[in-house]
Amino acid sequence: MKVPPQTQTSSPLYVSRPDLPNLEDTYKYLEQIKSARYLTNNGPVLQTFEAALRDYLSAPHISVFSNGTLALQSALAGFNLSGTVITTPYSFVATAHILKPLGLTPRFVDIDPETLCIDPQHIEAAIDKDVCAILGVHVYGTPCDVEAIEAIAHEHKLKVIYDAAHAFGIEYKGQPLLSYGDASVLSFHATKSFHSVEGGAIITPHSQLDEWVRVYRNFGLDSHGSALFEGINGKMSELHAAIGMLNLERFEVQRDMRKHVVETYKRELADIPGIQLIAPNSDATQNYGYMPIRITADYGLDREALVHAFEEHNIYPRRYFYPLITDMPAYAEHKQLFPIASKVADEILCLPLFHDMDVQEQDSVIAVLKHHAQ
Ligand SMILES: Cc1ncc(COP(=O)(O)O)c(C=O)c1O
Repeated sequence: MKVPPQTQTSSPLYVSRPDLPNLEDTYKYLEQIKSARYLTNNGPVLQTFEAALRDYLSAPHISVFSNGTLALQSALAGFNLSGTVITTPYSFVATAHILKPLGLTPRFVDIDPETLCIDPQHIEAAIDKDVCAILGVHVYGTPCDVEAIEAIAHEHKLKVIYDAAHAFGIEYKGQPLLSYGDASVLSFHATKSFHSVEGGAIITPHSQLDEWVRVYRNFGLDSHGSALFEGINGKMSELHAAIGMLNLERFEVQRDMRKHVVETYKRELADIPGIQLIAPNSDATQNYGYMPIRITADYGLDREALVHAFEEHNIYPRRYFYPLITDMPAYAEHKQLFPIASKVADEILCLPLFHDMDVQEQDSVIAVLKHHAQ
């Protein structure tokens, strides 16, 4: 008989463990902000942060927002679209949530079984005269099939917007992944591979869109304080920008530390029957933001039972993304069977992963997975 793993983490082990920069460095920024008496509204730290990101990401234009959801909504608003947007059910709800407030209707299509991103063949099949845009998601930082999507969009004159919430710093075929499409949107949420506690950004090759979203994020106000159109408050504060600046300096070191954790997982889990790893795209770099695995029929437990087993060890992996957006009550009218996305959502589990995860913590996750294998 198998012996249950002895490992029991003393404090809960969540899927991520966001952390703040060194407090002394943070304090220096706070002093600077305090003496400038400039706390938000496109302040000096925000401007420095935008410039640093523009450089680091080789972005032609970048505008920073208070979160990724408002950034995504603003990018779509800026194209003044109407009609239907083809998107994926396999994402975080924010991807779809931004459409209705803009008067847009989602049309969900299935995903590719390898990349877990929207499948171009299904996009093509779903196009009709109402479709105005494609909204893809680079799931776990794996690129969508950007070339195929570009070709479809070109043929049908559609806008392409990427939810790149997971794709900070990824290069595809030697180019920034964020350079594809009409706009890409990052999230700097605390759980992301790069964060400013809350935050997001729009990267676009179109200078007009960049100018427009900068006005939109500030209530639509012109330089005289008069509203040109109905904008929103999507501004990032100086404090958030300061955390972003400091985290940018640490991004590569932390990414490489996460890489080490991911490689250990991959080595240890490679031969466990029923645990399927997600193959990276060999043309793309990785930021090691997630450690997704699929729990398939050959494993000793189904995914739900495994989650329960983890919880008994004070370990909380995340079923990310589950349920599918189209299986949530808010999207009941879009409910249908997506053979690939539904299967993946039923099998997916993102394991705890953060840069300073210690060996004992990781061992405890691996021990539970090995213990319940057949
Ligand atoms: C794929 C995806 N899209 C959008 C968002 C929303 O970003 P934010 O939390 O910054 O609003 C997230 C994350 O939270 C996400 O994972």
